[in-house]
Amino acid sequence: MYLADAAKEIGVSSITLKRWILSGKVSDVARDKNNWRVFNNGDIERIRNYHLQISEPAQITYCSEQPKHTIASFFSGIGGFDIGFEKAGFKVTVQCEIEPFCVSILNKHWPSIPKLSDIKEVKIDDIPTSTVWVGGFPCQDLSLARMGQRKGLRGSKSGLFYEFARLVGEGKPRVVVIENVAGLLSSHKGRDLGILISTLAELGYAVGWRTFNSKNFGVPQSRQRVYIVGCYRDERGPGQILFEPECSERDTEKGGSNGTKSKTPFQEIVGDTSGEGPVIQSIAYCLYATSARHTGTDWSRNYACYPNVGMVRRLIPSECEGVMAFPKNWTLPGNHILEGDDLDSARYHALGNAVTPPVAEWIANKVMSYLNGEN
Ligand SMILES: C[S@@+](CC[C@H](N)C(=O)[O-])C[C@H]1O[C@@H](n2cnc3c(N)ncnc32)[C@H](O)[C@@H]1O
Repeated sequence: MYLADAAKEIGVSSITLKRWILSGKVSDVARDKNNWRVFNNGDIERIRNYHLQISEPAQITYCSEQPKHTIASFFSGIGGFDIGFEKAGFKVTVQCEIEPFCVSILNKHWPSIPKLSDIKEVKIDDIPTSTVWVGGFPCQDLSLARMGQRKGLRGSKSGLFYEFARLVGEGKPRVVVIENVAGLLSSHKGRDLGILISTLAELGYAVGWRTFNSKNFGVPQSRQRVYIVGCYRDERGPGQILFEPECSERDTEKGGSNGTKSKTPFQEIVGDTSGEGPVIQSIAYCLYATSARHTGTDWSRNYACYPNVGMVRRLIPSECEGVMAFPKNWTLPGNHILEGDDLDSARYHALGNAVTPPVAEWIANKVMSYLNGEN
């Protein structure tokens, strides 16, 4: 069997297995005519024994009871980061969110996780010790989707970054992951990004940043966001987490062949697309929180068109959930906190603000490998 299967068989990641071989911790195996490593049963047995030797007994005996790596979630919204990190095996310890509608969604999905409200009031003792802190601080003062001059980090909303930084300075988590709109890169000609990086650097963090477009992670929406990673006193960490050493596999499946015109994932999500269903572009434009208003400009420009009857409609909230790659009805609150148009507006707004879970999950997996020393 080849490396990936052998690693699975032994119970480690492919990267760890390769590292053991390259560093001489276990001797190398035979190669096939294409120069791929081939592992026979003897090799598996030998490397498994090495694995058992170096593992602590508690890890072997009580594997399912191992404490997981944990995340504290700030500016949690409806939990885009939280979903992604949980899928990668992290345990959420606390969620900090001020908006009552978002809190009701968090309570529905994470009823037993402690909640904190206004970050300005949060004290370090309120936060359970957590390996990773995540947060997408409010983007209102950075977003290009808002008219007028951008106040950047001087604004009362985006300036909440400093509250997050205050707590980071006191709690010193090993890793912080921050998300925001790509407008952060250009705000005050890049000075705001510079301030954010130097603020974290002064607290002892090595910092890296990268933009990701959700459409490259199987999400049916073009959504470009900047992700900033800080690793406490480890200058190589952010690069290991945010970048890949080699070309990775394709994220999306290939389209239909031989002239069959298959529907795109976005077209699958919207309406009843059989028969006289709406005409939709192949991928959704970016959803914004400003799309929440029932009047005025819908910045997202996502419309379902029915040319035969001369009608156009906006997407309904459950379709927006699909466009954000959230589970269907995720933003339906468990209580009657809002109804009718108000409920729709709150759902559009929260979804437009959210992190897409597949991007969060990709980063979370990289953070997990980093924490487990697999990079
Ligand atoms: C950009 S959104 C983050 C969305 C989140 N990442 C998600 O996936 O849904 C920023 C969030 O910060 C929250 N927020 C604003 N002011 C806050 C404060 N003072 N304390 C805590 N949360 C706050 C907003 O209600 C909003 O949900």
